[in-house]
Amino acid sequence: MACGIGPQSGRVKWRFGFTQNLLRYFLLCHLVFFVTGHIRYSIPEEMRKGSLIGNVAQDLGLDLKRLRSGRARIVSAESVQYVELKADKGILTVKERIDREQLCGGTTPCSFSFEMILENPMELHQITVEITDINDHSPTFETEKNNFDISESATAGARFSLTSAEDPDVGVNGLREYFLSENDNFILKQHSNAEGKKYAEMVLEKPLDRETKPNLFLKLIAVDGGTPQRSGTVNINVVVLDVNDNAPVFNQTVYKASVSENAPKNTYVTTVNASDADFGSNSIVTFHFSDGNSALNSLFRMDQISGMIYINGEIDYEKDKKFELRINAKDQGGLTDSSKVVIEVIDLNDNPPVISVMSFTDAVSEDSPPGTTVGIINVKDLDSADNGQVSCKIEGTVPFKIKSNLKNYYNLITDSVLDRESVSEYNITVVATDAGIPPLSAKSTFNLKLSDVNDNAPTFSQNVYSAFIKENNSPGLSVLTLIAKDPDANQNARVSYILEDINVGGSPISEYVSINAASGVIQAVRSFDYEQIKELLFVVKTQDGGSPPLSSNVTVKILIQDQNDNPPQVLYPVQTGGSVVAEMVPRSADVGYLVTKVVAVDVDSGQNAWLSYKLQKATDRALFEVGSQNGEIRTIRQVTDKDAVKQRLTVIVEDNGQPSRSATVIVNVAVADSFPEVLSEFTDFPHDKEYNDNLTFYLVLALAVVSFLFITCLVVIISVKIYRWRQSRILYHSNLPVIPYYPPRYSDTLGTGTLPHVYNYEVCRTTDSRKSDNKFGGAGGQNVLIMDPSSTGTMQLIQSEKNILDEPDSPLEVSSCDYYQRAFLYCIDESILHVYMSNIDMAFAVFSTTVGTAPVLSDFF
Ligand SMILES: *[C@@H]1O[C@H](CO)[C@@H](O)[C@H](O)[C@H]1NC(C)=O
Ligand SMILES: *[C@@H]1O[C@H](CO)[C@@H](O)[C@H](O)[C@H]1NC(C)=O
Repeated sequence: MACGIGPQSGRVKWRFGFTQNLLRYFLLCHLVFFVTGHIRYSIPEEMRKGSLIGNVAQDLGLDLKRLRSGRARIVSAESVQYVELKADKGILTVKERIDREQLCGGTTPCSFSFEMILENPMELHQITVEITDINDHSPTFETEKNNFDISESATAGARFSLTSAEDPDVGVNGLREYFLSENDNFILKQHSNAEGKKYAEMVLEKPLDRETKPNLFLKLIAVDGGTPQRSGTVNINVVVLDVNDNAPVFNQTVYKASVSENAPKNTYVTTVNASDADFGSNSIVTFHFSDGNSALNSLFRMDQISGMIYINGEIDYEKDKKFELRINAKDQGGLTDSSKVVIEVIDLNDNPPVISVMSFTDAVSEDSPPGTTVGIINVKDLDSADNGQVSCKIEGTVPFKIKSNLKNYYNLITDSVLDRESVSEYNITVVATDAGIPPLSAKSTFNLKLSDVNDNAPTFSQNVYSAFIKENNSPGLSVLTLIAKDPDANQNARVSYILEDINVGGSPISEYVSINAASGVIQAVRSFDYEQIKELLFVVKTQDGGSPPLSSNVTVKILIQDQNDNPPQVLYPVQTGGSVVAEMVPRSADVGYLVTKVVAVDVDSGQNAWLSYKLQKATDRALFEVGSQNGEIRTIRQVTDKDAVKQRLTVIVEDNGQPSRSATVIVNVAVADSFPEVLSEFTDFPHDKEYNDNLTFYLVLALAVVSFLFITCLVVIISVKIYRWRQSRILYHSNLPVIPYYPPRYSDTLGTGTLPHVYNYEVCRTTDSRKSDNKFGGAGGQNVLIMDPSSTGTMQLIQSEKNILDEPDSPLEVSSCDYYQRAFLYCIDESILHVYMSNIDMAFAVFSTTVGTAPVLSDFF
């Protein structure tokens, strides 16, 4: 017990129980008050400065003057003067804020004491001021927040101790209880420890789910019992720790995407996405193709992490129009989900049309009418829609068109009339184009040949062909080549040449010329004689090999050219073998006396027949001359007695051909006044000549005899036969035809000249020779030996010769001719019997004699 004055005592501490202390308080204070004037006051803490604590003067029973005179003052051991004495009023006021908790902490009751000293006399009064608690503190937590990491797998009943709160107030003002903010998972349990300190813990009542509430923000509230009540709060943050309790989930059950075909590798297709409600590594999802169609899966590639799908192979719409990929999502804990990706392939125009031939004619006939089908083609395009929509046309200008009656099938048909001769083949190019963008096209070329139809006749380049050929040509000589052209082909263009049958001079043309049917070469069949025929005019037909054949014709003219193949023929004076003819010149003849006229003809024509006469030899050159143009022999001087009676002149007659041909004639002239004189002279003409003549005579005679014997034999045989035939009288009515005959050795005579004695009577007469005409006429009266082995035609020529040469009233005339046994032809005119032997060489063929001097015909046969 230390209740008393103690200068050293700053603070009185009560270490007794509550009731005990209270009791002591009353006892002590009344003691002090009474003994030493001890007074007590009780005030709440935290009063304002200047607040009245108590009236000390009154309580001590002192008047204010005493206080003033006693210089009352407060003495305190405390460092802080909480109270102040207002001596003038005798009251105590609060000088400094009084915090009970600061002054006493948890001690109750809480008071402080001080002394008031008075002087004159000295008095000492103890004053104690008790401070009562007011609820001026809230419960406070040691930490500002309380964090927990709790796995969502934590089970119900798990406990978590919470931070506890402090409240410096005492008594009812101290901490009373805790509250936990509203939540679904935790409840609060409160406890007190041995010292009476209250603390709390959370108990998990319902398991946590991070996926629904990853964080819980709770508040722990501590309240005291004061009035008004104070509280303190602390945040309790609960982080829910993840557990892999969720499988990944795709955000779509089916993913749809489209991709163009032929898209390059690594083209992005689509992205799949799956979410995992878990956190952290538990939420890491990887993507995979489901096992299964590995071929399909190899076409695509999926990024396992991002879920992006790319193209990994070749996408061909024509193979697959749609892909369905099954995919899985997997988290780290092996939980999975599955979905599928449907990828549609977009068609691209990547396939050109394909043209294929269904049928195609190799060749179409040129006369096919427009609209003839020459081929059928099929056109396909693997693409779809517009990309596979194909249209066809023909490129360039050809007379064909294309027509479709059936989808994808096209007919190639002719569009106009065709002509193989102008265009023999066509290349038909068909272009097929699809409707894609850009369009693709294909080309195909078909070669179509036109087959020939015989629609063109062969034609010659000229309307008339003409050619020249020299007479005396060798048979077989090519004269001319005809060429006909036929624009058709093959057999239709194979031209052949045919001679149109006509008669030339009574014989068919084929006896004159022939044509090579294939080559068109015209050849002479025989040797031509200009003197006989001067030109040939005939028609050649050309014909092709078509069916029916077409033909045309052309006129061919062959002109035969003259050659100098005939020597001049001396008509007068007649050259006889035996007899000697002499012209008489009277010795009295004057200069320029016309002795005679050499008459010659040349059957050739033109220059070849232009004759000139020359004196070649003469007994007396000075006596005679020959007119070079007219052949007149005249005296050029007076005939004298000295001139020989016998004069012999050799005159040469030349034509003007190249080379020229000539003939000589011997003219005997008798210079005499009387005939006997002449005779005497001419009997001794040179014997060499006579000898020659004799020799010729004997030869002819020998031949005649041989021939006579031969003919006699023939005649005997034939007579017998004739006799028999006469019996049947058939012979009389058989008019045997005259068969043209060529001597067997006809060809041997070629080159040597024409047949002899076939005259072209162009007699060259001088205008001034009337006299010579008379002479000539006289010569015509003589017997003429005529040799002609060939034909009756010759007879007429002979006759005409006579007619020209003789006087108009000449009795010479062919009366009748006939064949005898087809071997002999005999003709009798008034004075001469002519016998022609048609099948014996001409040298032996002819007998003729003057009727009357030779045996009569009956004798002859
Ligand atoms: C057709 O084509 C072929 C081959 O290309 C060629 O030889 C021929 O000359 C062509 N014909 C035509 C008429 O163009
Ligand atoms: C030649 O052609 C014409 C018409 O082209 C025809 O009348 C005639 O018969 C043909 N022959 C001859 C020999 O003219």
